[in-house]
Amino acid sequence: MTLQIKSFDEYKEVYKRSVEDPEGFWAEQASSFQWRKKWDKVLDWNFSEPNVNWFVGGKMNITENCLDRHLEERGDQVAILFEPNDPNEPAKEFTYKQLHAEVCKAANALRANGIEKGDRVCFYMPMVPELAIAVLACARIGAIHSVVFAGFSAQALADRINDASCKMVICSDYNNRGTKHIPVKKIVDDAMALGCDSIETILVHKNTGDSIEMVGGRDKWWHDEVEGQSTTCEAEEMDSEDMLFILYTSGSTGKPKGVVHTCGGYMVYTAFSFKNVFQYEEGDIYWCTADIGWITGHSYIVYGPLLAGATTVMFEGVPTYPDAGRFWQVCDKLKVNQFYTAPTAIRALMAQGDEWVEKYDLSSIKVLGSVGEPINEEAWEWYYDKVGKGNAPIVDTWWQTETGGIMISGLGSHSPMKPAHAGYPLPGIQPCLMDADGNELDGNDIEGLLCVKFPWPSMLRTTYGDHERCRLTYFSHFENKYFTGDGARRDADGMYRIIGRVDDVINVSGHRMGTAEVENAINEHPLVVESAVVGYPHDIKGQGIYAYVITSDPVDDEDVFRKELLKVVTKEIGPIAKPDKIQVVTGLPKTRSGKIMRRILRKVASGDTSNLGDTSTLLNPEIVEAIKSGALG
Ligand code: WT7
Repeated sequence: MTLQIKSFDEYKEVYKRSVEDPEGFWAEQASSFQWRKKWDKVLDWNFSEPNVNWFVGGKMNITENCLDRHLEERGDQVAILFEPNDPNEPAKEFTYKQLHAEVCKAANALRANGIEKGDRVCFYMPMVPELAIAVLACARIGAIHSVVFAGFSAQALADRINDASCKMVICSDYNNRGTKHIPVKKIVDDAMALGCDSIETILVHKNTGDSIEMVGGRDKWWHDEVEGQSTTCEAEEMDSEDMLFILYTSGSTGKPKGVVHTCGGYMVYTAFSFKNVFQYEEGDIYWCTADIGWITGHSYIVYGPLLAGATTVMFEGVPTYPDAGRFWQVCDKLKVNQFYTAPTAIRALMAQGDEWVEKYDLSSIKVLGSVGEPINEEAWEWYYDKVGKGNAPIVDTWWQTETGGIMISGLGSHSPMKPAHAGYPLPGIQPCLMDADGNELDGNDIEGLLCVKFPWPSMLRTTYGDHERCRLTYFSHFENKYFTGDGARRDADGMYRIIGRVDDVINVSGHRMGTAEVENAINEHPLVVESAVVGYPHDIKGQGIYAYVITSDPVDDEDVFRKELLKVVTKEIGPIAKPDKIQVVTGLPKTRSGKIMRRILRKVASGDTSNLGDTSTLLNPEIVEAIKSGALG
């Protein structure tokens, strides 16, 4: 059984042990799983290449641990509890036995379609059970899944398919989102038209049943391929360090990179962190509202909960359909015990008024989770008082796509809690704060750049197809340390408070974006000469997107031009990257070496032009006044 910490004293003791003897500690945690062959060595690592190997030589399959391992003890317990978009449709249950059978059928269907160990399979799907089933089917046969959030555009999808040379796409016909049917298959077709030569097959899951075009020889219906397959499927034997999945995420430069996670360490850490952070108990109903297109969905809707034998809710809908009470209605109806969502959703629902949350019985809730961005104190208090009724602890979980699992967080009610503080590191996690010169900052009540100085089992291993990029991005800033890109404060009690990104990554409604990516999209417009994108504080989204744009000719109609820019961004990346504000400017403040002074642009965007610092050394100091006077409030 995975260790479950039950008091703060126990946490302190376990933490100490995990740092003094990491190998012993993680070997203990790993031993509760089913291994085909035990590892020869727990850990082998260096951060200079980097080269990190956990449970070296161990052989296993993660789906045997998510499914087969539970059949005897909890075969008839619900594994996935699916709540559809339409509140009038009943929830659908998959017991561990049923899920096992469905995953085996899907795995056999994938094999029948030529998918083998190591092949990459891309997903572009809504939050329906078939997504989880197909993801697990990949893992069962050793294929590498690459799930792309279905809000990304055809271009973004094509880029991701091509970066990983995926052999197959699994999609739906249409997605349900509130009252809308989104033509997902059509977007996949558009991606194919942009050139995705590696794709041999597209499997289409019939979701809404609206009409679509099927291309002969390439497109197949999911149900045709899966129905009639055997409900057993021999799992592929995987090495601990074989790839499990790729997940694309944005950085400060260039195109999104494919973060690679591997089988053994990811399994051990997601299960351990799930049980401890959420304090999941036998029989609980756990609900994470994330989309499986993000790491939160991978680790804490699918893998972590299933590894722990939990009942995990999958929600197809949106927080505001049919009304702003939807989350709380589902919590009431399904008697949810652990609820995990993002600050942006909390703020949006908070703005709708308390009556929505007061309408429902939320007494089943034992733990409330927050993830994806800093949670402001007002939202924290509302979440605690109105949703948790002051009875449920908030676990503010700090982590990243790259970390694979939660790194800093309270453990249910067993940790001290402070609004807007993630708190203490999980066992085995060794964070540190650095100054810009590479010195580690000792002691408390201090602020610095957040790094991690020792490997943990679920850390990224590489960025797909470009190991050097992984080294440069995460391991080159500080010797022997993983650099997170976040700034953080360690308060007088040693609790961490995440301040936010210190690089050119912004976090909009919990969606991570590179400002360079948005700029590249804007620059596709024929009239645009140059652009600069920054984040600014936004009441609901956390950060909004502010774009400064230089055009080659004067713009006749700024409204039309703005709309065109939004269209370009939607086409290149997706609607989530649309700037909230676009200011047409005649120049951008630059240093003498030609670097854009983003500091100034950020200040202007935030509405604070009082003290812009010394601008006299700029190449074009006169531009600052012009930008200030044209700033959008
Ligand atoms: C970035 C990672 C990890 C799942 C979702 C986001 C920010 C994440 C918190 C938190 C403050 C947070 C950081 C981080 N972030 N959780 N609890 N408090 N900031 O994953 O898309 O890889 O984004 O999200 O800035 O670096 P991601």
